Amino acid sequence: MPDLPVIDKTRLPLHIAIIMDGNGRWAKEKGENRLFGHYQGVQSVRDTVEGCAELGISYLTLYAFSTENWDRPEEEVSGLMALLAETIRKEVPTLNKNNIKLQTIGNISMLPEYAYKELLEAVELTRTNTGLTLIIALSYSSRWELVTAVQHIATDVKNGKIQPGDINQDTLRNYLNTSAFPDPELMIRTSGEYRISNFLLYQLAYAELYFTDTRWPDFRKADLYKAILNFQQRERRFGKTGEQIQQETATDAL
Ligand code: IPE
Ligand code: IPE
Ligand code: MG
Repeated sequence: MPDLPVIDKTRLPLHIAIIMDGNGRWAKEKGENRLFGHYQGVQSVRDTVEGCAELGISYLTLYAFSTENWDRPEEEVSGLMALLAETIRKEVPTLNKNNIKLQTIGNISMLPEYAYKELLEAVELTRTNTGLTLIIALSYSSRWELVTAVQHIATDVKNGKIQPGDINQDTLRNYLNTSAFPDPELMIRTSGEYRISNFLLYQLAYAELYFTDTRWPDFRKADLYKAILNFQQRERRFGKTGEQIQQETATDAL
């Protein structure tokens, strides 16, 4: 396992979020069609999930399909849905063997019926696992999530359940799809794109961002370790000064 010994297991990111990008370009570079790239990306998912579970990461969110991705050519969308349903079904025994709990965020009611069922079944079958929580963002976008949250808050205000003046950051957090999970501390995007593409805009407020040129189908545990090592070299200040942070770290060590 390359680099693993130098990862400080006491300072792991609690939650890693990944924008798995570059499948289409990876395939085209090999003279194949885009779906071939998506199929190859499944091995990267396996490797990354395994790597996170072995290290003891608590939460891993994978951006698999955005609300905007519905606008792709019909054959790519249907191919992706079929791949998704098949992968989820096949992976459930491995998830259970490794004590991994599957969760989803996103507008999953938009999925075709068969994929929706497969997904709910897998969530149910892994519900009592207590190791890594694997969150798949499917038909997800942050703006969709925020608009939906605001609609629900407005309804609850109208029904007298909450008062406008009582709405604070915790209220908003509770209405998001991610209410059960802590914010990501490390966000990785593959394929050399430097953007967020409507992913967890609220939750990534203080995440460390890591970008790599590696296309998703080439991403392996070694790449994950590299990102975590990079994360561990950063000073997270949360608006404070570097001196304050060093002082707090020194006090904590006592
Ligand atoms: C990421 O790879 C997977 C999905 C968005 C579903 P892409 O399909 O976006 O690949 P590129 O970015 O076109 O290379
Ligand atoms: C973001 O990738 C969505 C997923 C990885 C699922 P895209 O390929 O859709 O993002 P853009 O269009 O390049 O911003
Ligand atoms: Mg892309």
